[in-house]
Amino acid sequence: MAFNIAVDGPAGAGKSTIAKAVAKKMNLVYVDTGAMYRAMALFMIREGISVSDTAKVIEKCELADITIRYEDGVQVVLLNGENVNAYLRTEEVGNAASAVSVIPEVRKKLVELQKALAANTDCIMDGRDIGTCVLPNAQVKIYLTADSYVRAQRRYDELVAKGIACDIEEIHKDIQERDYRDMHRAASPLRQAEDAVLLDTSNLSIDEVIEKMIALCEH
Ligand code: DC
Repeated sequence: MAFNIAVDGPAGAGKSTIAKAVAKKMNLVYVDTGAMYRAMALFMIREGISVSDTAKVIEKCELADITIRYEDGVQVVLLNGENVNAYLRTEEVGNAASAVSVIPEVRKKLVELQKALAANTDCIMDGRDIGTCVLPNAQVKIYLTADSYVRAQRRYDELVAKGIACDIEEIHKDIQERDYRDMHRAASPLRQAEDAVLLDTSNLSIDEVIEKMIALCEH
């Protein structure tokens, strides 16, 4: 059986930064499941479909072939054969991903892909429903969170460093809306699995969180 670490938590808690670093240190593959939902959202945006039009999204999601490949240890998301990594990290795509991810048909398709990947790969997988739904038997489960203001500040600093003008209040509002949607949807909402360890990163440095995670894995 493959060794699997499940990491869940709200947007901006530091899941991908931490999971990537732990993957490197422990020689695991990092699987970013949010990128798969983002690729599905990108497909809908490109097709001119409103993500709130559930019937249309369900109909069209059949036409989105999403697969994952690894190049030099980096996850590449292929949307109908095209490497779409460069288009996935915008706020527009992130918000649309949160909207399409409430649809059970979309989740079913992507969860199947995630389960298949983890079955034969030693990996650390991050998302919203990994410990509760995708990998209920993961050897280690971590729920990573941080205060919503701290998460907004981190996102703001990231965008400013990239030279992108933004408004912190706007980002905070977006984070709160996304949290609400992710936590209150009917299909696999974001919640801490009963056997997951809670790690609040509000007052921890990245290195401190990595250290704690590795200690939990070696426990
Ligand atoms: O982690 P992220 O910001 O890249 O995820 C984008 C959206 O995708 C997020 O708002 C909720 C959804 N998502 C999900 O529902 N389940 C997952 N396993 C991963 C992401």
